[in-house]
Amino acid sequence: ARTAAVIPAAGRGVRLGPGAPKALRALGGTPMLIHAIRAMAASRAVSLVVVVAPPEGAAEVRTLLDAYALPDRTDFVVVPGGETRQESVKLGLDALPPGFDIVLVHDAARPLVPVDTVDAVVAAVREGAPAVVPALPLADTVKQVEPAAPGEPEPVVATPDRSLLRAVQTPQGFDRATLVHAHETVTDDVTDDASMVEQLGRTVVTVPGHEEAFKVTRPLDLVLAEAVLARRRL
Ligand code: CTP
Ligand code: MG
Repeated sequence: ARTAAVIPAAGRGVRLGPGAPKALRALGGTPMLIHAIRAMAASRAVSLVVVVAPPEGAAEVRTLLDAYALPDRTDFVVVPGGETRQESVKLGLDALPPGFDIVLVHDAARPLVPVDTVDAVVAAVREGAPAVVPALPLADTVKQVEPAAPGEPEPVVATPDRSLLRAVQTPQGFDRATLVHAHETVTDDVTDDASMVEQLGRTVVTVPGHEEAFKVTRPLDLVLAEAVLARRRL
């Protein structure tokens, strides 16, 4: 079965602060999106990458794809994104040609995911899992709180057993039909694709995630990403 990667890159990056759309900001002089595309195309399994561009940035993204060296064996499609990540992924899925039975969904905001993580996700889907997420144990203790008025202290109501919690990353890998069905059925707001599959009652499994697959969300994450890149270039 052939494998395609959908890269949602249409977010503004509000938490990163003012500037260009997050996916188009530079990391080591190269747009974050290009790093993310290279990370997907680095996997021998991936033969098509669908980039879901900022709504007004599709032409700019096409220009970038021509300007940066990318593997010849990979095809690229660019589509404009939507208001939410969920909508953007759906728009990417709508643009998938027939013949790709395995789909990876990978955040442009995780530019440094190693190829071994990508390959591990693909392998688990090939072995029959309908949905696969890279996951890592948590470093911090996690508390559940009760909502409070702004500025008021939030009462803690529970401390879930950390040993059973995981922070999940992307790429998340899916049997295409399962993911398409989930996006056509689930209407709740979600922050990842696997949770939509969970809502259908299908099994989602984890594979080991990687520290370098962290999401660039806040300004400090850019500092870390630059440091990781600099270390790779040594
Ligand atoms: N994304 C998208 N379309 C949207 C919103 C988000 O394609 N309407 C993408 C982002 O470009 C990113 C990924 O989803 O690659 C994960 O989202 P997040 O890290 O939250 O990025 P942003 O939404 O851009 O950031 P923020 O929430 O801080 O605005
Ligand atoms: Mg967001």
